[in-house]
This record gives sequence, C-alpha cells and structure tokens, in this order.
Amino acid sequence: MTIIAGNFKANLTRIQVATFAKELDSILTDMQTSSHLQVDIFPSHTALLTNNFKHFHIGAQNAYFAQNGGFTGEIGLSQLQEFNINRLIIGHSERRTLFGENQDFINKKFRFYAEAGFEIYYCIGEPLSVRQKGKNALKDFLGTQLNGIDITYPKLIIAYEPIWAIGTGESATLEQIESTHSMLATFTSAPLLYGGSVNPTNAREILCTPYVNGVLVGSASLNIQSFTDIIRASK
Ligand code: 13P
Repeated sequence: MTIIAGNFKANLTRIQVATFAKELDSILTDMQTSSHLQVDIFPSHTALLTNNFKHFHIGAQNAYFAQNGGFTGEIGLSQLQEFNINRLIIGHSERRTLFGENQDFINKKFRFYAEAGFEIYYCIGEPLSVRQKGKNALKDFLGTQLNGIDITYPKLIIAYEPIWAIGTGESATLEQIESTHSMLATFTSAPLLYGGSVNPTNAREILCTPYVNGVLVGSASLNIQSFTDIIRASK
C-alpha cells in the first residue's frame, strides 16, 4: 500500500477545498488508481467536507480529546462524526512547537482517538540541532516523541517529518530518509511516510526509497496539478 496525503494546514477556503475535492475525485477516476493506493486530504476545520468521496478520504488536522464540551477553539469527536471523518493527524511539529503540545497532551489525544477507532497519522521529526548531533541523538529524540504511543495500534501511520525540511523547499536526502525510516522500521510495523518539501519533482525517488510507504505533503498538496502529479509519481 502506498499512501499519498495532503496536509493543507491553514490554507484554502471551504469553497476552494470543495472544488479541489471534486476535481481530485474525477482525476483519480480517470487515473484508474489501484487498490494499493490510499489518498487522504486534511483540510482546515472550516473546510471539512463530508467524507464520502470515491477515491480518497477527508481527515482532520487536529481535534480535542473529548466527544464535545467546554474547549473553546477546539472541535471534538462529535464534530468529526458529523462529517464521517475517522482520520486525524496527531503530533505534527507545528502543533508541538507553535501550540505547545507536549508528549502528555499528545498521548491523551492519541488514546482517545485510538479508542474511537480512528486512523492516526502520527508525526515525529527532529530539529536541525538534533540531526547535527548524530544518529544516537536522532534515535533518542524520535523515541521520545513516540513515548506513550501504542506503536502496535493497527490503524497507526507514522509520518517522519524533519522540522528543518518542512516548508523549506529542501527535503531530506534519500540517504537520510532511508536511514531514519530503516531505524524506525526496527521497532514498528506501521506504514512510514516521509514529509518535508515533497514535490512533483522529488516524489518518485522518495517513494522508491526503501522503508518509505508514502508521503505527507504540505505546500505541494495545495495545488491540484502538483498534488495529482505526486500521486502519478507513485505509480
Ligand atoms: P511541506 O511539504 O510544505 O514541507 O510541509 C510538510 C508538512 O508539514 C506536512 O505535514
């Protein structure tokens, strides 16, 4: 199974996502994609659509670990269920760094949504300072980000997204991706996605890299042409 996912972050409006989704479904129909390909998109909360497309799924970028309640600014399980959504990104570096989500908080989210049977895109990734300290530091750091997470959860997908490669236009090298993923593969059998400046030009070689089961795409997923070019590269 190859997984191609688009994380729209705080980009695209509800109307733009609706147009994107319609086009995506129609392009994927024409592409006659195989059952070995999974395509997921993660729009912002105001742009969530009912999850009933033929060839891809809609997921959420974030949600609070409660059915509903007094959690100003958040959405809970009820709001996702209304859209038939059962996929969630947890642990993205932007949530960890910009919004102060610590491992304990992330654990609570993971447990709640695993209990609800969600497919969880669990993100990990190191800052440049850790990468520069070498392999052991990297392994320790990524291990810490997996603390408390049930890595045997059957609907777990791990996305390795080095922070220094996100939104920079400079993806990790194939050697860095392979060595990090092969290290992760020693302790989990979850699918391993790479994220960080994936684009239509580098997608094929990244997808052909050993231990890479797919990609989580940010900026290059915002445009239907470049996102579908990345999907084509998986063929
Ligand atoms: P970019 O593809 O824009 O580097 O973003 C990657 C990412 O953060 C996906 O979750």
